[in-house]
Amino acid sequence: MTETPNPVAFTAERLAKVKEVIARYPEGRQKSALLPVLHIAQEQWGWVSSEVMDYVAEILSIEPVEVYEVASFYTMYHLDPVGKHVIEYCRTGPCCLMGGEEIYDYLKQKLGIQAGQTTADGLFTIKEVECLAACGWGPVFQIREQFYMNLTRQRVDEIIEELSK
Ligand code: FES
Repeated sequence: MTETPNPVAFTAERLAKVKEVIARYPEGRQKSALLPVLHIAQEQWGWVSSEVMDYVAEILSIEPVEVYEVASFYTMYHLDPVGKHVIEYCRTGPCCLMGGEEIYDYLKQKLGIQAGQTTADGLFTIKEVECLAACGWGPVFQIREQFYMNLTRQRVDEIIEELSK
């Protein structure tokens, strides 16, 4: 977990990337770059604080509220500090029918945290999300781009052990 420095500023490398992303869109349409720019921001700070969202708004010449609306709509953006591994656990019906509730309870018990919380060692955060489009392989959770499917208690143990190394 990292605090957002003040003043907020992208590294030179990331700022170049942001400019490249903005240049993909026609003049005056820089707002279209909002999602990728937020991804770059999250990559740098690990989460997007209000200071970071204000900074992104300034860069894109849009109102801060336009950034807040988008960042708070998509669960892929973290609006609070998170741990090293963010477990995005699917809480939608099909996964629940496949035993997702029991595995979810087991995961929370194992890590000793609830949704939205981070383990004391800063390794894991649990986040509840809607369907991850892998309904046929539920229960499912996602960590970054990696999907973990057909979850069982044993599989959860293996994943947590592996990621704790
Ligand atoms: Fe869980 Fe679709 S319901 S992936």
